Amino acid sequence: MLAPLLLVVAAGATSIAAGPATAQPAAKPRPLGQVVPAPASVSEGGPSYALSDKTRIRVDDDSNEAHRIGAYLADVLRPSTGYALPVTNRDAKDGIRLRLSSDRSLGAEGYRLQSGRYGVTITAARAAGLFHGVQTLRQLLPAAVEKDTRQQGPWKVVGGTIEDVPRYGYRGAMLDVSRHFFTVDQVKRYIDQMALYKINKLHLHLSDDQGWRIAIESWPRLATYGGSTQVGGGPGGYYSKADYKEIVRHASSRYLEVVPEIDLPGHTNAALASYAELNCDGIAPPLYTGTEVGFSSLCVPKAVTYRFLDDVVRELAALTPGKYLHIGGDEAHSTSHEDYVTFMDRAQAIVGKYGKKVMGWHQLAGARPVEGAVAQYWGYDATSAAEKAKVVDAAKEGTKLVLSPADRAYLDMKYNKDTPLGLSWAGLVEVQRSYDWNPQTYLPGVPDGSVLGVEAPLWSETLSTNDHIEFMAFPRLPGIAELGWSPTATHDWDAYKVRLGAQGPRLAALGIDFYRSSQVPWAAR
Ligand code: ACM
Repeated sequence: MLAPLLLVVAAGATSIAAGPATAQPAAKPRPLGQVVPAPASVSEGGPSYALSDKTRIRVDDDSNEAHRIGAYLADVLRPSTGYALPVTNRDAKDGIRLRLSSDRSLGAEGYRLQSGRYGVTITAARAAGLFHGVQTLRQLLPAAVEKDTRQQGPWKVVGGTIEDVPRYGYRGAMLDVSRHFFTVDQVKRYIDQMALYKINKLHLHLSDDQGWRIAIESWPRLATYGGSTQVGGGPGGYYSKADYKEIVRHASSRYLEVVPEIDLPGHTNAALASYAELNCDGIAPPLYTGTEVGFSSLCVPKAVTYRFLDDVVRELAALTPGKYLHIGGDEAHSTSHEDYVTFMDRAQAIVGKYGKKVMGWHQLAGARPVEGAVAQYWGYDATSAAEKAKVVDAAKEGTKLVLSPADRAYLDMKYNKDTPLGLSWAGLVEVQRSYDWNPQTYLPGVPDGSVLGVEAPLWSETLSTNDHIEFMAFPRLPGIAELGWSPTATHDWDAYKVRLGAQGPRLAALGIDFYRSSQVPWAAR
């Protein structure tokens, strides 16, 4: 199925990459190609569909998931349109239809959206595809549809067909809940924002020097003591098992897989402070509320270290339906290289024992990655050629890569020198710089098929509120999402910035406090 699909992609690209000329007066229905991430193929034409008080959301009889997605769509559309939008399995001439089919060309996450006089039909092989198609439909309606009070219509969707499948299967965003703790509701809000741009992995950085954020029954002080503070000395917090399950459940309802991370063997001061026996000298250090890195290490020669690790991985794996467990491995500056390799061997074996795939930061490439391991590259322009070569060599040996170059994909880097939040060790990262790179060619020499996708990490040394998260993530997160979803043929900054500019009123309608970069021609409505 690949060859015909690529042809469609190339044909569709012309309409998407047409540049500023695609901007339309706001009163007209949005062009089908104005979606972020750019769809793989777009063919516009025929009459548009207007939602009305007669519109029904029709789902197949036999799919609970399709019913759930229909109800989710109705929840998005009802407050602003004021329409009843009943979700039904009865035949309806007029309406929005969510259809599961056996069309395998749509893959695990793809969809087809057809709109015309009598309605909009979204077809997918799997529920995730229907969900992504629903996100596209949201973006085809006027931005005011996102508001939670009654708005003036009309609510028109332009006529035509979108066929869309993702470029990569791994399209992630990471939230550091260790440096500052974020509540379940805060995480859920960010998940909903990620879903709008078809992100499908939520990487949670659950432990670091400043805080341990997940309850582990066999080592309770990790959370109750190790989670009791944060950067700057605030009260911190942690997720009970029920809290974590609620995050997983909500993520799953938005078709995101949770990738939990316990950062090892460095970045472990919170654990070392909680249990004296984990320290080589048997003395627990104090809790840490600063922002230095690289000073802590688990005690590699001690047997208790591996009892601890086995318990933590066993309990966390049991709570996590997703296939990955991330073991960190970055900045282990207080662990000798020999100890690091020994430790990572044992940690990877424990992850495998509990049925999970190993994920680690790219320093894992300097140890002995197990078969099937995934290394997350977070280097930047100044990273040494030798360090990059280790990662490329590991990829040649079969290690898969997720790309998070710090001077492109780190959402906590300042946009410019005046940005009030964030850090700048990897440089200043404006919106264009964040978008304008290619995950496949970023590390020259990486074999085809090694890159699983991209991820945008958000470290929270300087961030403690929803507003902070949103100001740093938007508008860069949609750009990273597009790198993960859209075919390279659509990659064009001049066209992208116009599509992104059209997202401004939508982000505003959603109450997202985003950075109004002067690089982007923000639409008025
Ligand atoms: C990292 O930024 N230390 C992965």
